[in-house]
Amino acid sequence: MLAFRMKIDVLTIFPEFFREVFDFGIIRRAKLAEIVEINIHDLREFAEGIHRKTDDRPFGGGDGMVFKCEPIFSAIEKVIGTCERENYPPLTRVVLLSPQGRVFKQSVAKEFADEASHIILICGRYEGVDERVNDALVTDEISIGDYVLSGGEPAAIVLTDAIVRLLPNALGSETSAENDSFSNGLLDYPHYTQPRDFRGRQVPDVLLSGNHAEIERWRSEKALEKTERFRKDLLQKEK
Ligand code: ADE
Repeated sequence: MLAFRMKIDVLTIFPEFFREVFDFGIIRRAKLAEIVEINIHDLREFAEGIHRKTDDRPFGGGDGMVFKCEPIFSAIEKVIGTCERENYPPLTRVVLLSPQGRVFKQSVAKEFADEASHIILICGRYEGVDERVNDALVTDEISIGDYVLSGGEPAAIVLTDAIVRLLPNALGSETSAENDSFSNGLLDYPHYTQPRDFRGRQVPDVLLSGNHAEIERWRSEKALEKTERFRKDLLQKEK
């Protein structure tokens, strides 16, 4: 049996970017509890030649540089044992992070948390990645939103965080992913803690009432209100 529930391998030309980012809070605890193992791989180590070049000019001309196939194929071969997609072990997902991908959201995080045990995150850079990486290796191309980052690294952090917190036992008993925003298709309701009066701003009476049915009703109302105000799209389209 695998000791870890999930293994995540990040392929990047900037391994330093990830130096401490997974060493806090829930992710750190999940690593210590052996719920997840996270490894960062330097793609330059898989590049050929003394200069270990990972990019080159685009065939057909045009601006910018293109991420070469070689380092990515070699890294995948090392972390999975094959670069034939048909031969990947079950529950393996190779994700290319790029603005062209399917947009990441809570339901996608849940899909990965439930259906994968090994996730490889390829952080693209430059103008793009040689399409043969997509053709041969990638199982999922994912974007974290309709904007362009300088590379896939921040997106790899976003995916890792959102997925790991959904793994069984990753959250302490004091919290639950079921109550998270989006898990029911709505934004979260407002939260309050001590003091009851902060510089003249009061906690809503209903939360102090002790009436749990009333509190639940108020929270549902507020969640709906917020969603209508800021994210009407969530109410209209399929989640
Ligand atoms: N790389 C560049 N922009 C990106 C985005 N929006 N999502 C994921 N990876 C990216």
